[in-house]
Order: sequence, then C-alpha cells, then structure tokens
Amino acid sequence: MSTLVVVGAQWGDEGKGKVVDALASRADLVARYAGGNNAGHTLVLGDRKIVTHLIPSGCAYPGTLCVLGAGMVIDPEVFHAEVAALQRGGMLQQGELRVSLDAHVIFSFHRRLDGLREDLGRGSAKIGTTRRGIGPAYEAKAGRRGIRVRDLFQPARVSALLELNRDRLDPELISLGGPSAGVDVAAEAARAAGWAQSLRPLACDVGALVDDAIRSGQRVLIEGAQGALLDLDHGTYPYVTSSTTLAGGACAGLGIGPMAIKKVWGITKAYATRVGAGPFPSRVDGELGDLLRREGGEFGATTGRPRDCGWLDLPALRYAARTNGLSGLCVTKLDVLAAMPEAWICAAYEGGVAPGADELDQARPVLERLRDWGDPRLVERVKLARRLVDLPPPVRDYLDRIVEFTGVPLALVSVGASREQTIFLEEAF
Ligand code: IMP
Repeated sequence: MSTLVVVGAQWGDEGKGKVVDALASRADLVARYAGGNNAGHTLVLGDRKIVTHLIPSGCAYPGTLCVLGAGMVIDPEVFHAEVAALQRGGMLQQGELRVSLDAHVIFSFHRRLDGLREDLGRGSAKIGTTRRGIGPAYEAKAGRRGIRVRDLFQPARVSALLELNRDRLDPELISLGGPSAGVDVAAEAARAAGWAQSLRPLACDVGALVDDAIRSGQRVLIEGAQGALLDLDHGTYPYVTSSTTLAGGACAGLGIGPMAIKKVWGITKAYATRVGAGPFPSRVDGELGDLLRREGGEFGATTGRPRDCGWLDLPALRYAARTNGLSGLCVTKLDVLAAMPEAWICAAYEGGVAPGADELDQARPVLERLRDWGDPRLVERVKLARRLVDLPPPVRDYLDRIVEFTGVPLALVSVGASREQTIFLEEAF
C-alpha cells in the first residue's frame, strides 16, 4: 500500500503545488478531495509558471491519472478553461482526467451570492472569501438541494433542483443585489446541459477507481487544499473555508477507508501567511511584513490579494500536526526567510493560552529572535543547498527547533521555487 496525503499545515498557500509536483513524478494517480477553485497551486516548470485551481498539481507528468473527488465543488466553466489551457501546454492527454459523479457543481448564482455577501454582508458575514461560490455550493450540499455532476445527466432533475434553489435563494439574492440577481432557471439549465456533454466522458465512481488503484499497489498521491487553520470544523471558525481541509477528509472526500492511508505529510512555509479575515497571532506589520511579502511573492494565486505575513507559529503548527496526524513535515520557502535581515519565531502564546484554533483569537505571541540570522550570504547558501548538511548552521538549528516542537520529522525541505531546489529526506512511496 502506497498512499500519501499531502495537506497544508497553516492557512493555505504553503507551497502545496510545488511539493505535489515534485512528488507526482513518482505517482501513478494524483487526487484532490475537497474545495474547488478557491485553491491556487503554483507550479514552476523551467521558465514557465502554471497555476492550477481545480486540477491536481500532478497534471504536469504524462501518464499520471488526475482525479477530482466527491468532496469537491466544481465550477464547470473554470474546469473547462483550465483543462483546455493545460492541454494546449501539452499536459493532461486523453484519458488522464476523471471527475467524481458525486462532486457538486458551482453555478453562477453561487458565485453571485458569495460576492454580494462579501460586499454587503455585515459582521462575520464578511469572511474575505475568494468569491468563487464555494460556501454557497457547500451550503446547498448540506441543505440537500445541491446539484451533483451525476444530476447534470438528467435535465428534468436539474430543472427541479434549480427551482428549489431559486425558491430558497431568491429572497437573499434579490434583497442584496436587486431583481436581476435572482436565479434564472432556464438560463442555468441551458448551461448545465452543455456541461453535461463535456463532463460525461470524464465522470465516474472515483471512490472505486482510487480504491482499485490502492489495492493493486499503485502509488497514490492525495492533495489537500487550503490549510489546517481554515478547516470548517477545526480551523478559526467562522473565518474558515466550507470544507474539510484536514487529512481525515481525504477518505470521505474520495470514498476510501482510513486504513488505505500510509503517510500524511504537512506543508508549512518557514514563515506564515494568511489571506482573508480572521485571527493570525504572529502577523508582522510594517517594513518587515512588507519585505516578507515582497521576497515571498505573497499575493493570492487565485485572487491576487496581498497576503498578511508573519513569523512561523509553532503552537499552531503543532495543532495542525495533531489534527492531521502528520507523519512528516515539508518546510517550504526557506530561502525567503533566509533573505530577511532578522527573523523571529512564535514559540508560545502569552498567558499559557492553549494552542487550539478557537483560542487563536485571543492569543498574543511570545516571539523569539533567531540567532545568527541576517548574514547576506545566508540566502545564496540556502538556495544552493541540495542536502540538509549543505544548509548553514543557523538554518539547520531553525529546522531542528521546528521538529523538536512539533514532534514530526522532516520529510522534505524546499529552498527555492524550481524543482531542483528540493531536498528529499524521506521516500514518498
Ligand atoms: P472561501 O474558501 O472562498 O469560501 O474562503 C474562505 C476563507 O478561506 C477566506 O479567508 C479565504 O481567503 C480562505 N481561502 C480559501 N482558499 C484559500 C487558499 O487556497 N489559500 C489561502 N486562503 C484560502
């Protein structure tokens, strides 16, 4: 059995795209299990940069089967545009893509509602979402009025479900956006009929497909989206996404059992970022924060929004290690931290606040300055390192500290954006 789940261990944007891409060359199948095109996974292939939002980041390798699971919400317009762009780039050839019959579909009224709530909602209605309709689509799913990929193949069913959604959503859509903001059942049904045609050859029972692959000894790589602190149940609620971002969600979101998972790797940047509203105790404002953002290119891959930047939050990372059951840690963007004139780490919270997600709201960080940081030669040495022993001592000490605090061994360290700038410390499969 060779199944590895890779998840974000912070607030998303930890560098999952690069790590999954680095591992996918050895995988037979790469699957996503939750979220939708709120994710943005950046791959750097030579001088080309590719951002995928729905398709797993393993798409760059010929012969790797890419799979979208039942736990996802899929915007067919975005899906088709992304597939076409990848195919123009020579990726995702015939037969290399499958979509779950049970994944839910995002319609234009979901996106509209998401945006209107962000623009006009009050208080905690403003989450700082990606406005992609993710929350409203998951609401429909939990409300038993969602429209799944399999429903698209039954036009009468689609129309009945659209009418149900119109009756539920029109009061809110019209009160926020005016009469033309309501659900146009006929127009949506016509669009759905088009999607049915193009999705039919790709749709299948993904649970059975992945289960068969695992049982037959294939190497299966499962890619999480967002990060532990954005998890619907265990993140900084209500400032979270609407799905399970944790490794446990891989089973439910694909339709396989927990015994099928062999390893769980959590990805963390060497520092921290957050985009959207909600607590972020180790945030740094001012020049140092701006410098981290600039050096790290910390602007949303999906929305272009500037991300808040801060120091690595060890208690939050340990919490992510527990909630995911991490067996290995992948530390990314070490070169960015090495370029900082000074660097700090959040070692605890004042007053002994427990490191649960809900307590982060009140937590004030206890920051410790990293010793011997700020030598301008540090960054070049980090970028050129290809083994752990090549890293300068202050950087190795930093990694040791993270491992000691979380109790999770290092599996991979990334020292730059390119594939070559990756130090593997453990076999993925
Ligand atoms: P939603 O997932 O669009 O509903 O957004 C809910 C929260 O999750 C917002 O704070 C978003 O900024 C955040 N979020 C969603 N997807 C990502 C991601 O891929 N990276 C970072 N933050 C994300």
